[in-house]
Amino acid sequence: MINIKVNIDKVLDFVRLEEIHAFQTEINKHHKALLNKTGKGNDFLGWMDLPSEIDNKLISSIESDAQKISEIADVYVVIGIGGSYLGARAVIEALSHNFINLLSNKKKPLILYAGQNISEDYLSELLDILDKKDYAMTVISKSGTTTEPAIAFRILKNHMENKYGKKEARKRIIAVTDISKGALKKLADDEGYKTYIVPDDVGGRYSVLTPVGLLPIAVAGFDINSLINGAKTMQQFNASTSSINDNPIALYAATRNAIYKKGKIIEIMVNYQPNLFYVTEWWKQLYGESEGKENKGIFPAGVNFTTDLHSLGQYIQDGLRLIFETVLTIENSHRELLIPADKENLDGLNYIAGKRINKVNKMAELGTMIAHVDGGVPNIKITVPNINENILGQLIYFYEMACAISGYILNVNPFDQPGVEAYKKNMFALLGKPGFEKETESIKKNNFLSH
Ligand code: PA5
Repeated sequence: MINIKVNIDKVLDFVRLEEIHAFQTEINKHHKALLNKTGKGNDFLGWMDLPSEIDNKLISSIESDAQKISEIADVYVVIGIGGSYLGARAVIEALSHNFINLLSNKKKPLILYAGQNISEDYLSELLDILDKKDYAMTVISKSGTTTEPAIAFRILKNHMENKYGKKEARKRIIAVTDISKGALKKLADDEGYKTYIVPDDVGGRYSVLTPVGLLPIAVAGFDINSLINGAKTMQQFNASTSSINDNPIALYAATRNAIYKKGKIIEIMVNYQPNLFYVTEWWKQLYGESEGKENKGIFPAGVNFTTDLHSLGQYIQDGLRLIFETVLTIENSHRELLIPADKENLDGLNYIAGKRINKVNKMAELGTMIAHVDGGVPNIKITVPNINENILGQLIYFYEMACAISGYILNVNPFDQPGVEAYKKNMFALLGKPGFEKETESIKKNNFLSH
């Protein structure tokens, strides 16, 4: 049984139900093209079958490596960027204690991240920590040539070899990369690192259910079998119907596109639980890189409520009316905490004394939704009963499939990302990378260097 519900009642003041159902024929076509692998970018559809086709031997190997790592390391550094980073972090943070860094009785290594920026201070401060901790690491790059993780890995590899010696360092490093190409593959082979493969037909942002996500998630102590089973439940359900009435994936894809057609070009993903911050970041990458091309696409943004109600809330309520919201709502919290009564009642809170914090959060959610809809912001609601590995697996597949269908509705290839190359070319030219001399000249000619 799937545990994800999509409610579109609060978009119907802006879009008629018939306008949403008008996408049915198109969705049937795209759903079929995806299942039959006949649409745009069909050489990158391996993610669709990952949940049902994953090899049990691969799972066991990842679990066994995760166990070994937890025996030798207090800290596990995951080096990667974009799709080689966000999925793992989304799942790990969604499932982790909010203050895990400060918990003293940790049974599993603390996961830290590198290679997702080029900040000298960030890397230097990470080294300060690693000086004092036993650590292991994984370097994840499908292409094996991405600058940010390559720099971080070069720095950390040096640090680790100085700390433990080359032989021991080799046991503490795992590479996740392409089966045959890229600098990382060659380096891993030359150094003799344990290596996991990112399948050829799975792009970065769709790779969380490959070793890219599964290895760090297992090291953090979470149940990757349950994550995959959740995704499999959604995969099987999705294969059974493309009806907007029955399949929440189809309903979400149709509704967001119907709203987009009305000129609402920004979708804000809303959460009310701070440990879902990286689920939103993952979603932003998935949708931004998949849809934003050929001068088209819904701009994916994210807010964390109620925190951001005290900042971006003003714009959402009253600013330009280009926005719609999708709220990922978690029905139940794991813990229970009541608001105590207070004799003095100086803060005036006795009217909610005895109530659960979750209840107050839910009322904030409802009140916000009413206010935003009144203010001209359509509101899609995605509800799950709680957060665990199984439900996250369902959500991953739900968002991936809805993204693929939405990309096809926009008539773009949702599996490429030509736009991310532009900044790289300029950066390489500015750094004097061999092969980029022409770009360097053009930058000089345009006088950009004086800025
Ligand atoms: O979704 C994508 O393909 C990108 O975001 C990549 O994951 C990201 O650029 C990192 O690439 P790589 O894994 O090749 O280092």
